Amino acid sequence: MSGPGVQPLVLGIETSCDETGVGVVRGASLLADALASSVEEHARFGGVVPEVASRAHLEAMAPTVDRALEQAGVRLAEVDAIAVTAGPGLAGALSVGVAAAKAYALAAGKPLLGVNHLTAHVAVDRLAHGELPAQCVALLVSGGHSSLLAVGDLADPVTELGATVDDAAGEAFDKVARVLGLGFPGGPLIDRAARDGDPEAIAFPRGVVRQRPPSGAAAGNPDGAYSFTFSGLKTAVARWVEARERAGEPVPVPDVAASFQEAVVDVLSARAVAACRDLGIGTLVIGGGVAANSRLRAVAETRCEAAGLTLRTPTPKLCTDNGAMVAALGSLLVERGVTPSRLDIPADPMLPLSLR
Ligand code: KG4
Ligand code: ZN
Repeated sequence: MSGPGVQPLVLGIETSCDETGVGVVRGASLLADALASSVEEHARFGGVVPEVASRAHLEAMAPTVDRALEQAGVRLAEVDAIAVTAGPGLAGALSVGVAAAKAYALAAGKPLLGVNHLTAHVAVDRLAHGELPAQCVALLVSGGHSSLLAVGDLADPVTELGATVDDAAGEAFDKVARVLGLGFPGGPLIDRAARDGDPEAIAFPRGVVRQRPPSGAAAGNPDGAYSFTFSGLKTAVARWVEARERAGEPVPVPDVAASFQEAVVDVLSARAVAACRDLGIGTLVIGGGVAANSRLRAVAETRCEAAGLTLRTPTPKLCTDNGAMVAALGSLLVERGVTPSRLDIPADPMLPLSLR
């Protein structure tokens, strides 16, 4: 990068779960988003098998980097920095990405930027809708996380307002899909099945968290108002399905899918809108794999409009894990002139939000 106003060219590497993602971004413009997924290798286990994911990352890494650079039409020598997800995520999977990023950075003589996966899920929206406002609330819903965050400048630490006290929203989708025999990953399959169902067919519970989560949540989460719980809902669905099967009655899969999805979407969107209102913040960003859910997008749109809020949801492809989100945060950090990471940064499966 040289000269004022030149936007940084950043390569981003993401390996926190089962997607080997490599993105190339110039400033807030997406140049390439290459992805290799091991999801099919996990399907028969009904969940991501960490060791299988790590091995798949190892095999996919170099070809995916090559593909991203080719797609972007740039050479490694031209990039200004290499960003990588340092955590949170699966330890072995993260280690492959972090080791690869260090190797590329060292070999090409480029600065390394370790970034937080959750912040990157928010940062990706700058590729879809331009720069984020000075303050926003982010609802981050994925297979591993369900959090409400107060976000200022993305180069600063993000504050967690609340989170799930048990299952993540995506995890609940995956588990309910298994109960319904739909396959893995469950989110997109439930989304599809629900289109033919009645969301009001079965009144599944909307989990309320009466106590503060034991740790992590910041002050200002009165009575768990910004927290989530999905394990009771998941159990309620399983019990409902079991009762039908015991009675020898067919299970109306579309109705169960639609009613379950409605319970999740209702809680997520209501608490996110409440957080914006309580904090006096006018923009809600929804990110993470579950943000690809068509019903969540529709209900959040309606509720944000009614509350006078601006809703920003990245395109579904940018919601699920990808390398572009890491590059998007990386380029912002270069723009802000942050100090690069040391070459001995660890992959941290529990990386807190206070660390980028
Ligand atoms: O962000 P992501 O790709 O990986 C994690 O960081 O976990 O999210 C994956 C999760 C899975 O649980 C998957 O079932 C869910 O996102 N998901 C969806 C949809 N697409 C993916 N959940 C609901 N509706 C969808 N359309
Ligand atoms: Zn994710």
